[in-house]
Amino acid sequence: MYPNLFSKIELGTRTLRNRIALPATLTNFGARNQVTERWKNFLIERAKGGVGLIISEIIAVDPEALAQQAIVTGFDDTNENSFRETSEAVHKEGALLVGQLWHPGRQQLWHPTKSPMGVSEQPDALSWTVPHVMSSDQVRRIVDAYVETAKRLDYCGFAGVELHGAHGYLIGQFLSPWSNKRDDLYGGDVAGRTRFVTEVAAGIRACCSSDFIIGLKMPGDEGVKDGIDPGEALVITEHLVSSGEFSYFSYGQGNFSLSLETHVPDVHFSPGHFLDIHKKMRDAAKGVPVMALGRVDTPELAERAIAEGYGDIVGTSRTLIADPAWPQKALDGRRELIRPSVFDNWCWGEVHQGKPLQEHHNPYLGEVGEAFAEERLPPSRNPRKIAVVGAGPGGLETAWVAAARGHQVLLYSGSSSLGGKLRRDSALPGRSEISRIIDYQTHLAELFGVDIRLGEFGDASLTRKDSPDAVVCATGSILSPPPSLSEEGNSGINAISYIDEPFNGGTALFFDMDHGPTAYATVDLMTENFEHVILVTPRPQIAQNVNYCSAIGVHRRLHQMKVEIVPSYDLVDFDGTAVTCRNVFTGENRVFRELDALIYATPRRANDTLAKELDGSVELHMVGDCQSPRNLMAAIHGGHMLGRTL
Ligand SMILES: Cc1cc2nc3c(=O)[nH]c(=O)nc-3n(C[C@H](O)[C@H](O)[C@H](O)COP(=O)(O)O)c2cc1C
Ligand code: SF4
Repeated sequence: MYPNLFSKIELGTRTLRNRIALPATLTNFGARNQVTERWKNFLIERAKGGVGLIISEIIAVDPEALAQQAIVTGFDDTNENSFRETSEAVHKEGALLVGQLWHPGRQQLWHPTKSPMGVSEQPDALSWTVPHVMSSDQVRRIVDAYVETAKRLDYCGFAGVELHGAHGYLIGQFLSPWSNKRDDLYGGDVAGRTRFVTEVAAGIRACCSSDFIIGLKMPGDEGVKDGIDPGEALVITEHLVSSGEFSYFSYGQGNFSLSLETHVPDVHFSPGHFLDIHKKMRDAAKGVPVMALGRVDTPELAERAIAEGYGDIVGTSRTLIADPAWPQKALDGRRELIRPSVFDNWCWGEVHQGKPLQEHHNPYLGEVGEAFAEERLPPSRNPRKIAVVGAGPGGLETAWVAAARGHQVLLYSGSSSLGGKLRRDSALPGRSEISRIIDYQTHLAELFGVDIRLGEFGDASLTRKDSPDAVVCATGSILSPPPSLSEEGNSGINAISYIDEPFNGGTALFFDMDHGPTAYATVDLMTENFEHVILVTPRPQIAQNVNYCSAIGVHRRLHQMKVEIVPSYDLVDFDGTAVTCRNVFTGENRVFRELDALIYATPRRANDTLAKELDGSVELHMVGDCQSPRNLMAAIHGGHMLGRTL
């Protein structure tokens, strides 16, 4: 199985057991800038899952790099014991651990007030913070800071370091002609712009172990005018190869300008979207291994990337967030048991907001025993007959977990397919991969013998007909009409009904009180079917519930499709062809006439009728939206935990 992916490779004088890498993945599991048990477990569990090369998340090389409290320090000795414990545990599991060294420079993600240090005066593209421009002496001090941190990690048993020069951080700011306007030794031509990173690498080489790995993650395409495009990346790579200091190169895309969309390419990008860039870089790297990454999803694609020379190693972050055992399951020929990433970037959005990493359907993230946890579910001591009503992601999860533990499970789906609203979401333009979550759950439900009853809506009579010992209501939620419209009158069409039965027309108005990715994918669908689409929302901005990266894509598509975006207007009336809206700040009315449709996405209402009917007559549980309409993670994690305790 996957002979190229599971072949060994040398990184300098060290050997990787296979070609699979966990690229650096910030978890925010650190606390008060210290490594925590969860920080360590995240890496150790991925080593247990069979990854060859583990790159830690960003480690601050200098107090100025402490952008927020979850980023761990590498510039002092406070994390030494934890670093040592992590490297020992990762290496014991057969992987190699490399620490990612980080300084954000001017790029201020979380706190624009924290010491932004810049290569030149250019403001940070995200916060527009204008940095202090580092003097040559200050630059040399930061070179030393990188070297000192690398020495510490070497002392703590790490196999090497990766210098983070991608995504617009400090090293990237030096490398990029867009950012670097210096007129000292560290600016100008490619020799000047690469001087900083080459001095860092040479300093590390001079004082770390002889087998110490030095990797560089740099831009393959920064995505800004006059920045590092693939041609410039090629020139930089060739120059850096000639220094002889680097053990591997890895390439990320974008920086914190609007090109950030490419940094974590979401479901709207094709799998392996940037692999061609990596192939070019591999030619320039002249035998120094290249890590190809960016939306590599399946073991098949990873195998192809190695076999066809797109890279020597494949980095895959989000798939390994979803399932740390992705490599081992692939190697064992059990790829259908891999819990898939669907690349919606929800996890990234959590981290970007400063929250701990979370994942839709991996409830064990960062816990000891996370890898293969779903294969070690405790058998039930009292197997019973459980009826689960509703086969959306929450119901399906409860069903397979309960069945895996030995219960007899009946699963009722009122429709002819499984997956509920998530299945509909996957019918929207560019979102077909979302259904992979359902496919995974369905596979497990079938594997563990869940009795799936399609087209049978479980009503209150099921307790008589099937005599279950317990009923789980997973009946989801419904969209109510906008608050100002009555359900009886002209109330428009809810987005779910429109997805089920799309139709064409001239002009349509979409009223948005949802702000999530499905709402905008519905608008994408509407732009295919209507000549003109107007998007109205009571909030001053749109896409407030879409992670920042994917939100850039939302804006891009809406603008490309010439959707008329009308923020700060509430909906007050619809007479069948005209919608009256009111400005939420001024109270002024605006009327949109000659509409062929009003389609809306509004706060959902729990569909708890069955639960109310059954209450008191049987052991009853509720899971997901029918309890309280929340997000996908709440439905799946809730279903999983309920399945574990029934
Ligand atoms: C939650 C999250 C955190 C990330 N943190 C880092 C980081 O600390 N350093 C880094 O270089 N890249 C980081 N990245 C980017 C990944 O390393 C990788 O370049 C990107 O996710 C594309 O790979 P993928 O398609 O396999 O996820 C992060 C990505 C995610 C999803
Ligand atoms: S939250 Fe979304 S992008 Fe992140 S790992 Fe899970 S499925 Fe993938």
